[in-house]
Amino acid sequence: MSTQNTIDIENKFSVSFGEKLPVSIDKGLGSKVWDENGKEYLDFTSGWAVTCLGHSHPAIIDAIVNQSGKIIHNPNSGLTHSPARAKLLLTLQNVLPSGMNKVFFTNSGAEANDAAMKLARKITGRKKIISTRMSFHGRTLATLSATGQSVQRDRFNVVVPFFEFVEYNSVCQLSECINSDTAAVILEPLQGEGGIIPATPAFLAAAQALCKAYGVLLIVDEIQTGFFRTGPAFLSQSMGIKPDFLTMAKGIAGGFPFGAVAVNNDIVSKIEIGDHGGTYNGNPLGCAIASSVIEFMLTSDIERGVEEKGKYCASTFNSWILKYPLQIKEMRGKGLLWALEFTNADAATFFHNTCLENGLILNQKHGKIIRFFPALTITKKELQDGFSIMENVLSML
Ligand SMILES: Cc1ncc(COP(=O)(O)O)c(C=O)c1O
Repeated sequence: MSTQNTIDIENKFSVSFGEKLPVSIDKGLGSKVWDENGKEYLDFTSGWAVTCLGHSHPAIIDAIVNQSGKIIHNPNSGLTHSPARAKLLLTLQNVLPSGMNKVFFTNSGAEANDAAMKLARKITGRKKIISTRMSFHGRTLATLSATGQSVQRDRFNVVVPFFEFVEYNSVCQLSECINSDTAAVILEPLQGEGGIIPATPAFLAAAQALCKAYGVLLIVDEIQTGFFRTGPAFLSQSMGIKPDFLTMAKGIAGGFPFGAVAVNNDIVSKIEIGDHGGTYNGNPLGCAIASSVIEFMLTSDIERGVEEKGKYCASTFNSWILKYPLQIKEMRGKGLLWALEFTNADAATFFHNTCLENGLILNQKHGKIIRFFPALTITKKELQDGFSIMENVLSML
């Protein structure tokens, strides 16, 4: 098939919820992908912080081949044991925050958050859930209800009652909103979809202390920031936060749809048979891939690599702010998760589209923001190549 053929078929027969780029990707290797016409692109999005080891990584291919040759889905689903699941549970112990040793699995980030909120309501016997403005927690009815972006929520006559919002990083609003009717506070340690807005250490610490004071459960959503995206395995952990629920997905299985929720011992003692489940949860194929991805991350000391590359990104973006102040207003981020906020949406659109024409795939958010989140395995040379395309386009603005 040709690119045009593929685009025509998709346009004709698929229900699309997004404005698609005019690109049809045929294959990938590391941080490079090729479209159906053979044009090469650098991927600075890693499928939205998912393909953390890049494309076609041998650790993932081997896990898929080996596990699918054995079994991909157990008889009686999650009601039978699986050595692949046991191996992943052991591997996870090397990255999870201490005291959060017990885990259950999901197929996506939204399902992880949905389950955490559902369990928090059951365990506390309370209904209210506090979330933050501009947060993003998923697109199911409940996770959308917890999402603080009206552009995502309002068209659905939103939705589930008992969700309230406070300004991200406002200790004052959180302390006014939280009370003994509150089941949970859900927050990201850095808002990804919201535009790469980091939480202040004071806000996270206050959220933890207020939750403790009112018997409220703290759900930390590390679906975008987890698994070394910002350097440490989990950003909240590096900021000293101990949640009741830690939700994970995206990078956990390097591109295979998979998610997880880790809980502390207090929560474990209150979970009962029948509280949750799902046909595909903890399937052996997903478990084998996730084990392999996490093992690779640990043995290759990915954390150090991300920290180093993050510093290089920070200094490059900083130099652009000084050199192109009329085009770029601000940079925000950490590790390999960054936003460049342009002074206006037209400039960001021109930048995004011209980079794409020149073989660089970026992500545009909220009009003015260009989000950059490549594979954690990207090389310095690939970063340099992409940055030179970006700077070239910046100089045209
Ligand atoms: C912080 C956060 N939570 C939840 C989700 C939803 O995850 P999924 O798309 O896997 O359902 C996302 C997705 O972007 C996210 O960034």
